[in-house]
Amino acid sequence: MNQDAKKQRAAEAAIGFVEHDSVIGVGTGSTANYFIDALAKQKGRIDGAVASSEATASRLKTHGIRVYELNETGDLALYVDGADEATKHRTLLKGGGGALTREKIVASASRRFVCIIDDSKLVDRLGRFPLPVEVIPMARSFVARQLVKLGGQPELRRGFTTDNGNLILDVHNMEIADPKRLEEKINQIAGVVTNGLFALRPADILLIGTEDGVERVT
Ligand code: 5RP
Repeated sequence: MNQDAKKQRAAEAAIGFVEHDSVIGVGTGSTANYFIDALAKQKGRIDGAVASSEATASRLKTHGIRVYELNETGDLALYVDGADEATKHRTLLKGGGGALTREKIVASASRRFVCIIDDSKLVDRLGRFPLPVEVIPMARSFVARQLVKLGGQPELRRGFTTDNGNLILDVHNMEIADPKRLEEKINQIAGVVTNGLFALRPADILLIGTEDGVERVT
């Protein structure tokens, strides 16, 4: 079974967490897209969704799912999203698709965060995948220098602008021994919007698509 089929398995399992007539948060990426497609098959199950990116908003709308602004809804009962890496402690590394800031906002505004991944994303320690950091354009070089001081090797994601009009630095070889501390530390650098560590607000439930079915970590 390939990685996509495992992503789809995890995404379909997340449907079980969706309450009827609710407004839910929806993440970004290929796994989140499988979730949107599964949601679309359940016509009228939800009232609508808050999207974590323009791409997700447009996919939701294409399927006839109503898209709300987070400012209209208040807190959400559920957020469903993928990840680039996850540990058994449910800490995540996200932002491969560059939507990390809106993803973190919607995750933080949600009472329950269900993260859907295939089993290749499960790691003992975060950081093999380069850590995305969203930066205000004028601060790019300054932030890059601070990230080097923290032991990483930042690389500008060329030809990419976030939905918020900012840039992404992908930080290679960062030592992530204490994800919460590093998340806070990077976020304190002036010019950083946020970074792709989800340790202060980890997932509540991990659904891992495997060869044998879906493993659940709570
Ligand atoms: C986007 C993300 C995605 O959740 C992450 O990149 C995983 O993507 P995929 O489901 O395509 O493997 O954080 O910013």
